[in-house]
Amino acid sequence: MELATTLKGQTVQNKVREIGINPGYWYPVYWADQLKVGQVVPVTLWQQSIAVYRDVGGKPHALENACPHKGVELHKGQVQDDRLVCPYHGWEFNSAGECVNIPYFPSDQKLPCANARSYPTEERYGMIWVFPGDPALVPLRQIPEVPEYADSDCLMIPITGIFNAHFSISNENTMDVFHGFLHKNLQGWFDPALLNLQQTDDSVQADYRVSYRGTLIKFLGLSADDNGVTTRTVSIHYQYPHYHSTMEGVSSLYLMRLPVGPNETRSFTLLFLPKVRLPAWVQNLVKPILIPLVRRFLFMRFLEQDIEMMESEQRIFRQDPQRRYVEVNPAILALQRVLVRQYEQFVQQSSQLEHPSQLEHRYTETETQPFKESFVATASE
Ligand code: FES
Ligand SMILES: [Fe+2]
Repeated sequence: MELATTLKGQTVQNKVREIGINPGYWYPVYWADQLKVGQVVPVTLWQQSIAVYRDVGGKPHALENACPHKGVELHKGQVQDDRLVCPYHGWEFNSAGECVNIPYFPSDQKLPCANARSYPTEERYGMIWVFPGDPALVPLRQIPEVPEYADSDCLMIPITGIFNAHFSISNENTMDVFHGFLHKNLQGWFDPALLNLQQTDDSVQADYRVSYRGTLIKFLGLSADDNGVTTRTVSIHYQYPHYHSTMEGVSSLYLMRLPVGPNETRSFTLLFLPKVRLPAWVQNLVKPILIPLVRRFLFMRFLEQDIEMMESEQRIFRQDPQRRYVEVNPAILALQRVLVRQYEQFVQQSSQLEHPSQLEHRYTETETQPFKESFVATASE
């Protein structure tokens, strides 16, 4: 649906700061190269603790981070072959979460049915992805496409972002090109204008016109007019729950979001600079120097300013959740509608599933629990 691009004051629906996630999507939880063979690590995805491990064959798996015996965190255990072994009594769980051995249990008796929830897990684009929702939805949901990842001539810079803020706040920061004001001392963009805006049930597409001046545009290989100014279009595509934004073939930025909980969001970012195209052998030589430099002096300086704003926004919201806020950018309001709609759709579908006969064949009792808890936690905060 095409939306008007006129800036107009509207009151923000504060519930966007209280909503939970729609878990029926893939979420990144860890950088793949940081998870070694035989290693197990704890991650948190919307208040659910998950033990992510790489088996001896190199395949990643994710199990609920609580032993079905007494609840000890499974990430404190060890990987053996494709199994995770709890450190307390040595119960062993396969990648489906089934208890397949209890070291002291009589071998002629059937093992008790004691399963840890397992999550569909994938490794792609240098990240480990977990699907926390109904596994029946997996065939319908794709991990976002990152075509530049296969282009070895493109300079790729992976960046981790950690924000003490609700995911709606960090998502709005990315959609909000009007905050170039914040970055003026870094020669950020100026004169922003919203050109096009489209929204669907699960996406927002916004095109902005922005101008740049200074040394940054030289580094990016942009030519300037007589006044030293270059004007470009920035296209921002939010496809729930992740982002892709491009600046006319100059840069391509993927922001894969990990909502940790109501007060924390992480970002697994891939920044591609196709303009800095270098032959693979040159790249391999300069990459170890260039990547940290771009990360530190190009990206992180902007991100640190953003983080300060996002965390400030979150603190003040928590102090007074009833305070009224005014927004003028229709792209932000469109994004808020998508976030709220996705959560409400999930709540609605879950409540339909709460009929016992429907639940029986889709979840076990333990599997439904984290989502019920997350509703309660969100609603009561
Ligand atoms: S608590 Fe895990 S084996 Fe006993
Ligand atoms: Fe910013």
